[in-house]
Amino acid sequence: MSRIPLKTDSQIAKMRESGRLTYQTLQLMESLVRPGVSTKELDQAAYAFITSHGGVPSFLNYHGYPATICASVNEQVVHGIPGDYVLKDGDIVSIDVGACLGGWHGDAARTFLVGEVDESVKKLVEVTRQCFFEGLKYAEEGRYVEDISRAIEEHAVKHGYGVVRELTGHGIGRRMHEEPEVLNYVPRIKRESVRLECGMTIAIEPMINMGRAAVRFMPDGWTVVTADRKHSAHYENTVAITAGGPIILTAE
Ligand code: MF3
Ligand code: CO
Repeated sequence: MSRIPLKTDSQIAKMRESGRLTYQTLQLMESLVRPGVSTKELDQAAYAFITSHGGVPSFLNYHGYPATICASVNEQVVHGIPGDYVLKDGDIVSIDVGACLGGWHGDAARTFLVGEVDESVKKLVEVTRQCFFEGLKYAEEGRYVEDISRAIEEHAVKHGYGVVRELTGHGIGRRMHEEPEVLNYVPRIKRESVRLECGMTIAIEPMINMGRAAVRFMPDGWTVVTADRKHSAHYENTVAITAGGPIILTAE
């Protein structure tokens, strides 16, 4: 028996609302990212925006997480805790945010450029975005979650990048993390993959490293960094599998 909650069309319409709020929060983040702004200021703006639109920040207090957004700079992969760090010219910052509206979650992330960024780092950010869209091509009924994973991995590997293995995409709905797990790679040891069905809602979120795939977990209990301290990028959207193909719910 599947433990994957399928959503009706009207439930997907509700997730479209929480997805829009999540997306709009990311747009606000993009407008505020510049040299001189602290990650804490971004977090406060995200909190104010989500709550003033009737939403609840999905991450805040999730397993004790202390903020509305994750802000992961340069070698930080994900789950960077906003704080006193001030963004500077040449940084990249991955901002991940979730908003809950009417009991339904949205989850999305982008990596933003701060001022003038090295060409090689810009390419990492662009290829990470492409990885999401390569995966999205397979987000349709009758395909398998593994088809999404394979497409993401192949595109990253083609460019010589490392694919993070310790963290994954996931089902999402009334809870931020549901089944199935959406890996960004195909495990070497064969396992049965989940067949995609209409009504599934999943967060597809490639986390791609400029260098090696290996990561380390920092003593703050949250921040994930690359083991080789090279840059990492993240791109995530909440997606619904429908008869008409995939719909990105975290959109305008
Ligand atoms: N988008 C992240 C994920 O899918 C959310 C991390 S939320 C946190 O896991 F609260 F755990 F930080
Ligand atoms: Co997610």
